Amino acid sequence: MKIPAQVIERVRRLRQSVEHHNYNYYALAAPTIPDSEYDKLFAELVELERRYPQLVSLDSPSQRVGSAPLKEFAQVVHRIPMLSLNNAFSDDDIIAFDRRVREGLEMQDIEYSVEPKFDGLAISLAYEKGQLVSGATRGDGYTGEDVTANLRTVSVIPLRLATRKPPALLEVRGEVLMLKKDFEKLNAQQREKKEKEFANPRNAAAGSLRQLDSRITARRKLSFFAYGVGQVKGGNLPEDKHNKLMDCLVSFRFPVAPERQVVRGVKGLLEYYRRIGAKRDKLPYDIDGVVYKVNDLTLQNRLGFVARAPRFAVAHKFPAQEELTEVLNIEVSVGRTGVLTPVALLKPVFVGGVTVSHATLHNEDEIRRKDIRIGDTVIIRRAGDVIPEIVAVVNDKRPKTARKFVMPEKCPVCGSRVVRFEDEAAARCIAGLFCSAQRKQALLHFASRRAMDIEGLGEKLVDQLVDNAVTRTPADLYKLGAAELADLERMAEKSAANVIAAIEKSKRTTLPRFIYALGIRNVGEATAKDLARYFGSLDKLMQANEESLQQVPDVGPVVAQSIVKFFSEPHNREVIEQLRARGVSWQEGKSLQLAATSAISNKIFVLTGTLPHLAREEAKYKIEALGGKVTSSVSAKTDYVVAGADPGSKLAKAQQLEVKVLDEAGLLKLLGS
Ligand code: IVH
Repeated sequence: MKIPAQVIERVRRLRQSVEHHNYNYYALAAPTIPDSEYDKLFAELVELERRYPQLVSLDSPSQRVGSAPLKEFAQVVHRIPMLSLNNAFSDDDIIAFDRRVREGLEMQDIEYSVEPKFDGLAISLAYEKGQLVSGATRGDGYTGEDVTANLRTVSVIPLRLATRKPPALLEVRGEVLMLKKDFEKLNAQQREKKEKEFANPRNAAAGSLRQLDSRITARRKLSFFAYGVGQVKGGNLPEDKHNKLMDCLVSFRFPVAPERQVVRGVKGLLEYYRRIGAKRDKLPYDIDGVVYKVNDLTLQNRLGFVARAPRFAVAHKFPAQEELTEVLNIEVSVGRTGVLTPVALLKPVFVGGVTVSHATLHNEDEIRRKDIRIGDTVIIRRAGDVIPEIVAVVNDKRPKTARKFVMPEKCPVCGSRVVRFEDEAAARCIAGLFCSAQRKQALLHFASRRAMDIEGLGEKLVDQLVDNAVTRTPADLYKLGAAELADLERMAEKSAANVIAAIEKSKRTTLPRFIYALGIRNVGEATAKDLARYFGSLDKLMQANEESLQQVPDVGPVVAQSIVKFFSEPHNREVIEQLRARGVSWQEGKSLQLAATSAISNKIFVLTGTLPHLAREEAKYKIEALGGKVTSSVSAKTDYVVAGADPGSKLAKAQQLEVKVLDEAGLLKLLGS
């Protein structure tokens, strides 16, 4: 069958435009058409290729979905070996590198091209006359595996170079990796499917690239960054500077590190190292250092290679964020609300710039999911200021003696019963404030900066106060004397006096701080503020029932129940009485709670358009504070529609249903303010 010329032309156009939008979407993250438009173009291409199968070619974007599985990967011999870089770890190493370069070239001041060192997998892509013909892993540097079918599925890898005059042959080298966000998504899916999670983006990228079934690779979102070239034949590629060569690859539509730069001398190198180091955690991909390359390609050639690494380049590594260590034991700590948290005791290891000897394991389910056992060798990760985490167990290092963790049935601190409610991941000690661990945590919370802000009342002191039965409740703090404190071990008179002064100072507080300091379950700082604003006084809050508590914005049944339960405990009421008697005070405000008697209680409001003075949230808050409800759509049940400028269809609907319409002034009048 002869294919009409218009069809051939249309298919060519469609491929071009699908690739163009692919590039905008994946490489630039700046799509210029809606997804639905893209889908239409793609569907039209697939349909034409289905009707005219002779037209199907390997560089069509329709081929990015993967193909039938292979038996094994073929071997590929690299035309130019893929060597590695020497590593440098300190400023001195870099000073020495720069000196060697200068001496080797007999020059004073060197221009370097600098870029991030991607933590992924090195690959080489071969383009013949502009068409992608093969893609291979680095392997041992001389021979790699043919993963062409898999690499075709990577959206940011051009199937065809974006140039009218492509070189006869071009090998592009770079790193395949998985963006952090795609890694998180993949692991979330793995969790849902109850399949094994990947330890880090690098492993996920490696696992996805080395799939014999490229359809699986196609479903994983891999990325790619180019950082160099291998063999080149023909074409007019820049031959003078590395950065110009990279600009040329950008023009061919390869992604190249946006953070790349040209700098001069050691000073420029070290500044770059610090600048990228500070940004490391915020970059969308994992990096393990930066790479410095002599920018002048002629000078690169003159320097050449030693053994398997170039003299003209070096990798300046960051401190590792992942290390291996051993789980010596799994202990259990008891928190303020009695939650038992398993904590791994680790053989100390230097990771992410600090020595780590503990890692929280969160709860039993987490331990089971990661199958962490005492005696295991594990990968521990600490990135930036994130708390250290065990990412995975190294299975083939598990000793025969490895033991599973069992949650104790008795609280390790007070010996009371431990329960685990069905709908909760956490196991809890039921003893409440009778458990000294919970008492300690309650005191620490009470004294913390955002609560009563008692400086100097830290963990060590609280331990001693509770263990020596000097202090049982927060109220006891306010009858402590300096002499009593100074009697404690390791307490100098001066610091005892400071703590007493801090306790004294904390007496003058605010209602939100006080409510927060009580440590009511599910009442954080924000809720404490809302409660204080709504009720205006502690007594009103203490008297509130679940129903009236739920009138407070963002307070639902669970929080309301916690609050009622807390204030119904005689012990808690007693402590509050003592605190007040001992001088803890705050300014009380006007209550917003008139709900029961208010003219608008249980009336339903819909807000539409822009009000002249009140922000939408403010208006909502005022209505809800008086017991009104705010919903988003107008129906026969709506009592009032409050309309501002540009009200839209809701106003029309209100008029149609004959719902009462108010302006801002009308609303304020109704609210009585
Ligand atoms: S240039 C002659 N640039 O690091 C070697 N490599 O240890 C030229 N890598 O196998 C390599 N980011 O996988 C270069 N911006 C970058 C890099 C980079 C990551 C990897 C690459 C290579 C390894 C060398």
